[in-house]
This record gives sequence, C-alpha cells and structure tokens, in this order.
Amino acid sequence: MVYAHVSVMVQEVLDLLKPQAHKTYLDGTVGGGGHAEQILSTSGPDGRTLALDRDEEAVTAARRRLARFADRCIIRQANFTEAREILQEIGWHGVDGILLDLGISSHHVESPERGFSFQTDARLDMRMDRRQALDAYQIVNTFPVSALEQILKDYGEEPLACRIARAVDRARNEKPIETTQQLARLVAGVTGAKRRGRHPATRTFQALRIAVNGELENLEAFLEDAYELLFSGGRMVVISFHSLEDRLVKTAFRKWSRDCLCPPKAPDCRCGWSRKARPLTSKPLVPADSEIEANPRARSAKLRAMERI
Ligand SMILES: C[S@@+](CC[C@H](N)C(=O)[O-])C[C@H]1O[C@@H](n2cnc3c(N)ncnc32)[C@H](O)[C@@H]1O
Repeated sequence: MVYAHVSVMVQEVLDLLKPQAHKTYLDGTVGGGGHAEQILSTSGPDGRTLALDRDEEAVTAARRRLARFADRCIIRQANFTEAREILQEIGWHGVDGILLDLGISSHHVESPERGFSFQTDARLDMRMDRRQALDAYQIVNTFPVSALEQILKDYGEEPLACRIARAVDRARNEKPIETTQQLARLVAGVTGAKRRGRHPATRTFQALRIAVNGELENLEAFLEDAYELLFSGGRMVVISFHSLEDRLVKTAFRKWSRDCLCPPKAPDCRCGWSRKARPLTSKPLVPADSEIEANPRARSAKLRAMERI
C-alpha cells in the first residue's frame, strides 16, 4: 500500500528550524518523511538527520523517500523517548534542530487493518508500534470500567464518558467487543446521532488511541529535558494536534524560558535553575486557511518553537 500523508505547515517548520549545511537534526516523528525530505534538502550538501518513528510502515516509507540522502540520514524504528540513547550510540553529541510532528499519520487512518478508524471494520488495534503488547482490544475488553471512563474523560474530553464506559462493560460481559465498528455502533447507541457534524465515536476513538500509544506520557517524558539534546542556538519545533499535547509543550517551553523555578514569594533563589531557552512563538502558529482547505487534517495543528540559549 502506498504511504499516504501530506505534511503540515512545512514552510513554517523550515522558517523556524532554519536547516543549514554542516548541521545535525533530529526528526522524532519521521512518518512518510515529508518534513525530513525538506530538512535534508535545505541542509545540503552535508547536513545530517536522525529520523525516528515507532511505526514500521512509516520507517519503510521514509527509507524509500529519503533513499537519495542515505549517506546523511539515519532512520530507525524507535520511540522518540529513546533519542538520547540513539544519539549516543551513533556518536552524535547533540543536534542543531529537533522536529516533532505528533499524533498519527493519514496512513494510519487509511489502513483499515490497523484498527484506528471506525469508517471501516477491523480488529480493535490502534498500535503505532505493533511490537507492543497493549492494544485497543485489551483496553476495551479488560480494563476496569473506572479506568475506561478516565481514559475517555482525560484523553477524549468525552462528556458522556461514564455512560459509554458502562455500556462497554455491559456489552463485553455478553461477549468481547472485537471490532472498530462494533465499538462505534455501541458508542452511537449511547450518544445518539452525529454531534457537531462529527461521528459520535470520534472522541472515544481518539481517547483509546492516545491511551494505547501512551502519547501524552511519551511527550511528557521527552519534554522533561529535551533542551539538553540541543546545541546552544539549536531550535526545537513541535506540531501538536490536541489541546492536551499543546499544553504540555507550552508548559515545558515556558519552564525552559524562566530564570528561576522558586515559588514567587521565596526570599532568595535556591532552585539552581537557569534559563535554558527562548521562545520563538509567543502564541502557537496555526495553518493558513489555504492549507486547511487543501488538507483538512491540518485544521487542528498548532506549532510552537524555541531556541536553546
Ligand atoms: C503526523 S505523522 C508525521 C508525519 C511526518 N512529519 C511527515 O512529514 O511525513 C506522526 C508520526 O509520528 C509517529 N509517532 C508518534 N508518536 C511517536 C513516538 N513517541 N516516537 C516515535 N514516533 C512517533 C507516528 O507513528 C507517525 O508516523
């Protein structure tokens, strides 16, 4: 199957990351390689990129698309939380730019067998990395009702989380909920018809996907000290598609821009913290209307960037 994904906010990424010759970059979410291709082209003839993705199919697609840069591009199937170890392993002491373009790709949604979409029927799966044991089937069929409700509330901001979780519990006590459409029908039975033009199961599916892949935990872990991966003057650009992700990025960038982390009323500074970065975007950038028109998937993108001091 052809790997289909249209990269979002490409010009904004290039303007902020400013890829250059002799420099090194980390693309933590290479997907089909659209952004990485631009970074490698712009940083020619000798800029290098380490490209990671959890998804084997993305890695295969990226290897194909980036083949002509083989001597200056290293591609690995890995979680971006492993970036520090991989950089050490390949002998890079840091990078001049980091890009994270979070979430799933269109390829995930458009590959029915991956179980991300309720538009087609497939086993409940939703794993980006299919080597991982936990999948959506397990969450739906084995997690306690309270945990299910929490997932729907926290990651889907689903107002009917409690009712949906109970309906799932009743159904699975009869027989396991095996497929995407079984689950979608069940949710629609609780919530009624379309809500604000969206399928009633949209929030449930988003919540499960985030839980299956530990998306917020991974981002949080990466943001703990990601500035340390950057050389002085290095830049980091993050595109998120969900308010919870954007909040984590905003909080981390704010922290890195502060001079001191002591409580505001503390008589003197004891935190030992010093400013690590300066923000390059005071508010998140969003795609131009023309981009959203051409690629509706871009509509919820928010881009933030910072520079290491
Ligand atoms: C929006 S797509 C990236 C598209 C890419 N920038 C392009 O231009 O083609 C997001 C990708 O990030 C990957 N991904 C999500 N979380 C990840 C993580 N924690 N570590 C590595 N890859 C991750 C997904 O598998 C998916 O391929």
